[in-house]
Amino acid sequence: LIHLLTTEGLPRRILNQVLDRAAEFVAQGAEGNKKFNHLAGRSVFNLFFENSTRTRTTFEIAAKRLSADVINLNIQASSTAKGETLLDTIHNLEAMGADLFVVRHAQSGAAHLIAEHVQPGIAVVNAGDGRHAHPTQALLDMYTIRHYKGDFTNLRVAIVGDILHSRVARSQIHALTTLGCPEVRVIAPKTLLPTGIESLGVHVHHDMREGLKDVDVVAMLRLQNERMSGAYLPSTQEYFKHYGLTPEKLALARPDAIVMHPGPMNRGVEIDSAVADGDRAVILPQVTFGIAVRMAVMNIVAENQARR
Ligand code: CP
Repeated sequence: LIHLLTTEGLPRRILNQVLDRAAEFVAQGAEGNKKFNHLAGRSVFNLFFENSTRTRTTFEIAAKRLSADVINLNIQASSTAKGETLLDTIHNLEAMGADLFVVRHAQSGAAHLIAEHVQPGIAVVNAGDGRHAHPTQALLDMYTIRHYKGDFTNLRVAIVGDILHSRVARSQIHALTTLGCPEVRVIAPKTLLPTGIESLGVHVHHDMREGLKDVDVVAMLRLQNERMSGAYLPSTQEYFKHYGLTPEKLALARPDAIVMHPGPMNRGVEIDSAVADGDRAVILPQVTFGIAVRMAVMNIVAENQARR
């Protein structure tokens, strides 16, 4: 793993390496303010061409815990606004001594493009590209599931909501199936499901009540209005009635089922506050786990780049 661009095609060994390394960091105090020196003398550039609260901030915390120098490029105030191309921006930042780029971009494939053009020794981590992939989110979700459920080999996981526009769902599905989860369900209206999704090994449900029956994990997704071309924009009330997670619908899952959400949440659209703030929700622990998981990812790619 010299760049992390997607969970698709990543072998189980590498997924487990990230989860195990994150667990080691946690065991050594990474969730406190403990500092490690794994990235001392290295420069991590956070390039968020699209908005973010959780991912950008936890990458910054993770890099600082590893003693890296962290540079958050202010994209709005950068020369991107004057028409500088993505690759020209990258080459200029390389000239400033970048060692690792963390990239979020609205265009699918942006992180791949950068990875193809950076100098040897520089790592690229995809922090979410368009509808394509959000690998560190999926990895922190896998860490969360393993933390609460032990392992993946006996689990039913339901991913619910706007699968069509979701880079998180795609990355979760690839990670779950590789880690041996025997039953991954997707629950969504036909209009919010990509055609051929079954080929990824998932079971499709359009009826949320049917899809939630006896699941161990409910992974909710946001209705991503900003990525819709206008073909299907359900009203909030209509969507919540059919696909909003309420205590009554959650009661169909296993009694010890956990509820995840990558954030940001739309309360009253895909999730009722009674569930989001309830005792089955692990939404804020997911955010905390994201720090150790991102430490693990940056540590591993930097280590592998150094060995090349
Ligand atoms: N889950 C997630 O990617 O959140 P942000 O957009 O706030 O980073």
